Amino acid sequence: MILAIESSCDDTSVALVDMTGALFFHRSLSQNDLHAPYGGVVPELASRTHSERLPFLVEAAFSETGLSLDQVAAAALTTGPGLSGGLLSAISYLKGLCWSKKIPLIPVHHIRAHLRVAVEIEEEIPQESLGLVVSGGHTHLYRIRKWPDLDLVGRTVDDAAGEAFDKGAKVLGLPYPGGPEIEKAAEAWSGPFLKFLRGIHTPRELDFSFSGLKTAFVSHVRSEGITGDRLPLMAASYQDAIVSHLLDRIGKALGRFHPPVFLVGGGVAANQHFRTLLKILCEEKGIPLRIAPRPLCGDNAVMIALTGLELFRSGEIVRPPYSEIRPRPRWDED
Ligand code: KG4
Ligand code: ZN
Repeated sequence: MILAIESSCDDTSVALVDMTGALFFHRSLSQNDLHAPYGGVVPELASRTHSERLPFLVEAAFSETGLSLDQVAAAALTTGPGLSGGLLSAISYLKGLCWSKKIPLIPVHHIRAHLRVAVEIEEEIPQESLGLVVSGGHTHLYRIRKWPDLDLVGRTVDDAAGEAFDKGAKVLGLPYPGGPEIEKAAEAWSGPFLKFLRGIHTPRELDFSFSGLKTAFVSHVRSEGITGDRLPLMAASYQDAIVSHLLDRIGKALGRFHPPVFLVGGGVAANQHFRTLLKILCEEKGIPLRIAPRPLCGDNAVMIALTGLELFRSGEIVRPPYSEIRPRPRWDED
């Protein structure tokens, strides 16, 4: 078995998969309620909470499946990019747990894991593919010349798409995280959308920018007010504006690179409006779309387990005393 932990932001998640990638256990504990009063993730609170919860989740993984640590061939964990305190919680915990049985560890890159679960475990990611990770921390487009090497070809110059959802939700009086709340509120609207800001300019053609859109939305909400029946219209229009901007840049990138497949993951990829329009766009362009299943879009340990399995198969393990295992909050820059 591969035991896996994800703790790079505000989700504590544990999974167990076997050597074929079959899932035996997966449980995530969200910290949304803890961070909600602050309107965003408080790193110190997040790492303390991961430390408290990890042993309980790992205990549950073994007691509920009847498996034991003796059946674990390796333990995979996110070592970056992410919040250093959260990364350190899992690193310290797994180093202690696994050292006792001399179980190797597998450091996993969080962004690669988001993209890896967009395809089946036995499916290879072809050379020259394109990938998008769209979440609360990332709106990043990558050219994958040869998996797992990622070349950044476009990124947000200000907020990530998930942040734009979260900030817009706040203005509408909806709780954090805002993406699912905006999606839910938007479901009650089926008419035409309000157009806030289109044709967003960025210095580089494949970059994204959401802050102007957010500002236009905030001033619209402040001037019009939120009466009960306008909430679905506002939520749906804002959602459509974010999705339209994503699709505009994706369309340009697909046109420029003609990738053999387009991989998409990250929390915002769970958005159904985005999924529907993206599928149409990829069909029009004749490019196969591989998008993570909705339950695996946000942060989760299954993506760490499956990426860990792939690394295990290619022998990329670290044995005790695990000296190469350290938090890499800015993995690609360190
Ligand atoms: O990948 P994720 O769980 O965590 C990281 O940021 O790494 O993504 C969380 C983000 C939040 O900003 C949340 O509002 C957004 O993804 N999100 C959504 C949806 N579900 C989560 N945004 C739009 N629609 C959704 N259904
Ligand atoms: Zn993530």
